[in-house]
Parts: sequence; structure tokens; C-alpha cells
Amino acid sequence: MTAQPTVKLPGSGFGWPTPLGAPGWAEVAMGRRSVRRYLPQPVDAAALDRILLAATSAPSAHNRQPWRFAVIERLSVKTALARAMGARLSEDRLRRGDDPEVVAADVARSAARLTEAPAFVVFSLTMREMDVYHDAGQTRAEYLMAAQSVAMAMQNALLAACAEGLGACVMCAPLFCPDVVRETLRLPVDWEPQALITLGVAANAGRERGRKPLREVMLRIDALPERCEGGAP
Ligand SMILES: Cc1cc2nc3c(=O)[nH]c(=O)nc-3n(C[C@H](O)[C@H](O)[C@H](O)COP(=O)(O)O)c2cc1C
Repeated sequence: MTAQPTVKLPGSGFGWPTPLGAPGWAEVAMGRRSVRRYLPQPVDAAALDRILLAATSAPSAHNRQPWRFAVIERLSVKTALARAMGARLSEDRLRRGDDPEVVAADVARSAARLTEAPAFVVFSLTMREMDVYHDAGQTRAEYLMAAQSVAMAMQNALLAACAEGLGACVMCAPLFCPDVVRETLRLPVDWEPQALITLGVAANAGRERGRKPLREVMLRIDALPERCEGGAP
């Protein structure tokens, strides 16, 4: 195979090889789609390293970098995690009174998503180096800042995967059973699993999901009207 000609990203300074014809920023940020089906081939190890390095380049509160990653590629580990998470999901849903057949089908679908993904990365949060407060409001804000930082790392990873030409999708299931994930994977006690990202060579392009019009989700505030006494303006 002939080596692909490479160019340096303008202004990147990192010298990462970028194949000619690689997508530009807007194509990556606005063309990324969640991809949930993959070809049965491993994820290139160097690409996975670059994806995680991109994750660690995200901004974080006080630059404490409260993100932690667990990379899973081995089928036995994927299966163990899928079984443990599936058992918890099934228990929770049956307790809620959901139809056992529907629950079994959903659990099997989620398990297949994990075992059939060539790789996935569990993103955890650690409060180990975050500030400690004795006030409930500040404690909550500090925790949210850590969660926001991990989310930013995840977004960087999703964009990097897209730029690498790989498919990826967030799965929020670990957030609903962090203890199960921590125990099954024997993660350090301070790691709080938040979500996982499945990765692989895409088997399809993902589905175009609409977005709300910008005007529906934004306010432009150019002036502040006087408040009326005792009520909203
Ligand atoms: C916090 C978060 C949790 C998500 N959890 C799941 C999930 O559990 N399963 C899933 O299939 N997709 C999940 N997604 C992907 C969303 O469904 C997807 O981003 C959304 O439908 C928009 O589609 P797009 O990513 O292709 O633009 C999650 C996304 C986010 C940001």
C-alpha cells in the first residue's frame, strides 16, 4: 500500500499527519452523526490514542482534568460488562412494572451494541482533585463542573473519531449503574462512570437527526427592561 500524502493542520503545530482530503472543521463538527453499527474489524491503535489525546485536550474546570478513561476491546470484558449492566437494567425495569418481553428485547439489544462494537471507552469522573466545599450549593456546582469537563472530553473524542473517519456513539447506560460498571471493570473507587463511547469502522452513515432552529434555543439580550414591583417584567 502506498503511503498517503499528508499535510500539517494549519495552526495545529502538532504535526499530526492529516490525510489529504480529510474533513475540515465544519464538516467534522456539523457533519458528525451517531453511528451505532460497525464493521467487525479492530480500531487502529494509533487512531484510538489520538482520539483519547484529543479528549485530554478539552478544557476542564481549574484544569484539574477530572476525566478518566477505560478502553475495552477484548470480547470477554465486553461480554462481562454487557451481562452485568443488562442484569441491573432488567431488575430496574421489571421493578417498574415494564413488560418482561420488552425488557428482555431491550437488554439483548443493548448488550449486542456493546459486544458488537470493536472498541468502547468508558468515561468516568473523579472528584479526587476538585475543590472541596462545606456548602451544598458550591459542592453541587463543583460536581457539575467536573461533569461538564468530562462531557467536553467526550465531545472532543467524538469529533476526533469523526476526523479519523471512524463511527462513534455515546451510550449513557453507565450513568444509571455506575457501581455495576466500577465493580465489573474493577475501576478505582473514585472513578464515577458517566457514559461510554462505542467506536469502530462505520457500517452505515448514521441517521440525520434534525436540530431545533437556532432562534428557538437562543435569546439575544440587548437591553434589560425595568422589573415591575413584585413580579416578572
Ligand atoms: C449524554 C448523551 C447520552 C446519549 N445516550 C445514548 C444512548 O444511550 N444510546 C444511544 O443510542 N444514543 C445515545 N446518545 C446519542 C443521541 O441519541 C444522539 O446524539 C442524538 O440523537 C443526535 O443524533 P446525532 O448524534 O447523530 O447528531 C446520547 C447522546 C448524549 C449527548
